Amino acid sequence: MTTDTFWQLLNTAEGLILQDSQDKHQKLFIDFNSGEHQYRRLHGGGNGQPIAKAIGIKKYDHPPTVIDATAGMGRDSFVLASLGCHVIAIERHPLLAPLLQDALNRAKPIAELQAIIERMTLITGNAIEQLPALAAQYHPDVIYLDPMFPERQKSALVKQELRILKALAGSDEDAGKLLDIARQCAPKIVVKRPRIAPTLTHEKPSWQLIGERNRFDIYLNAC
Ligand SMILES: C[S@@+](CC[C@H](N)C(=O)[O-])C[C@H]1O[C@@H](n2cnc3c(N)ncnc32)[C@H](O)[C@@H]1O
Repeated sequence: MTTDTFWQLLNTAEGLILQDSQDKHQKLFIDFNSGEHQYRRLHGGGNGQPIAKAIGIKKYDHPPTVIDATAGMGRDSFVLASLGCHVIAIERHPLLAPLLQDALNRAKPIAELQAIIERMTLITGNAIEQLPALAAQYHPDVIYLDPMFPERQKSALVKQELRILKALAGSDEDAGKLLDIARQCAPKIVVKRPRIAPTLTHEKPSWQLIGERNRFDIYLNAC
């Protein structure tokens, strides 16, 4: 008998679920129509919340185009699209990308989410390889990065989610390389980091926005 565990995508009546073959409690499911996403959308602080300030949404005279090069569960992409940004989300994990695409497909027919989802495009692949071509196609105002970090502190729910994400996707050891490429592809890069984490590379950010748990490192004039 083998004790090997593997992750499986289950096609259920609710939508795709990503589940540990040995432990059905270890699972990921994305629902942009959930109370949690709805609460953040309606009461998350709008353009006053840290991610909006880091992107600088209010400073643009048009809704900015953002490439989220580390889409993961699509939380940050969804927040940015809720705030009016056009978001091109890139996810390289072969099971996470379909999970996210399925969530987008399910959310699109929901009247109050339709306009938000229409501002989101998911690309499956490695951003390190795809960024130059996508930047040439979409002319992003900002590239947003939220690579994995070992010791992130979050709420219990998100902590479990991050633990599973990390088990699946690893530690994003190549995140420094991703930042280097991103800097050649947009005038502004925003990197989300845990509050006390080191910067992604030795390069100093132009400025930082420091919150309770997270920090945003902002790199300007990259091209
Ligand atoms: C910490 S999670 C991001 C969470 C996301 N910000 C959210 O709100 O759900 C990092 C994700 O980025 C993805 N990732 C890391 N490097 C990548 C790359 N070079 N190209 C595409 N995806 C990448 C990982 O597979 C992982 O799913």
